[in-house]
Amino acid sequence: MEPLSIGKVKIETPVILAPMAAVNCASFRLLCREAGAGMVTTPMLVCNQVVANPEKIISRTCYLKEEKPISTQLLGSDRKLMEEATRIIDEFSDVIDINLGCPEKDALAIQAGAFFAKHPEQIEKAIAPVISATNKPVTAKIRTGWDEKSIKTLEIVRILEDLGIDAITIHARTKKQKYSGKADWDEIMKAKEQANVPIIGNGDIFVPGTAKAMMEQTRCDAIMVGRGAIGNPLIFRGIKALLETGQGLPEPTEQEKIDSFMRFLKYYKKHEKVRAFTELRQQAMWFTKGLRGARSLRDKLMRSQTVDEILSIYSNT
Ligand SMILES: Cc1cc2nc3c(=O)[nH]c(=O)nc-3n(C[C@H](O)[C@H](O)[C@H](O)COP(=O)(O)O)c2cc1C
Repeated sequence: MEPLSIGKVKIETPVILAPMAAVNCASFRLLCREAGAGMVTTPMLVCNQVVANPEKIISRTCYLKEEKPISTQLLGSDRKLMEEATRIIDEFSDVIDINLGCPEKDALAIQAGAFFAKHPEQIEKAIAPVISATNKPVTAKIRTGWDEKSIKTLEIVRILEDLGIDAITIHARTKKQKYSGKADWDEIMKAKEQANVPIIGNGDIFVPGTAKAMMEQTRCDAIMVGRGAIGNPLIFRGIKALLETGQGLPEPTEQEKIDSFMRFLKYYKKHEKVRAFTELRQQAMWFTKGLRGARSLRDKLMRSQTVDEILSIYSNT
């Protein structure tokens, strides 16, 4: 397993936490780093909002020095806003990533995200202002195209390389697929054959064995894990061990999973000052999925109102 270099940033373990809106709070990111992720990513930050309310967005993102290296993901398409948002988040970020794949209506409405899968000729307006506003490495995260009839992975990769991008993540699905169907890893493989910049493969890694399979099948330089890490940051421990030694680890025990959530709660209490309590409850639901006695735990969780109440529920398990 080779470390990954994105521009001047060296990432010891080429396994990255995917950007995930409403999931990647600082406490979760930190847990993923501790478990073995080589780099973590913020949820996407919409450039309009960053510029309109920088203090709020920065304090909500809650950058921690312990979680570095961190990539900040930006979504947008307006040149001025992209440039200004980049200047605002620059000092907190080791890498800046640009979202060219979000399929949601709000993103398409501002001609951003997966809009560019349909209009690759316009990608320049989201990328060039960011590159010109920072000395940090700039990466992009793409889908393979708008739908199965218009696969554009290789065209988009070429455009991004010409613009001077430092690495490209490929979520190997179309915009139309959203999260359904299977990710088409062949697109990652073809991009890797063509590209001169690092290619990060993404899509459908839920267990360590699949991480290894993606690296072997596509020869990508790094992998990115999203849903497989939700409520389960220990997945990074298993992936790292398997990639480093070729040997898998036993599944995390119930106790390890509870310990991991307790740690999450402690970080949450310490660091996250501006988040809605419902988000914490949601994290608790994810972390307790499948645990013994989960049903009664979840009932208690749904009634809880403070971090301390949740901590006491778990201290008594
Ligand atoms: C809850 C959730 C939020 C997401 N938010 C973002 C986001 O903010 N930016 C982004 O580029 N992708 C986002 N994604 C997509 C993931 O980064 C990733 O590309 C996708 O889930 C496929 O990887 P996986 O199969 O490992 O989950 C999100 C996915 C989920 C499930």
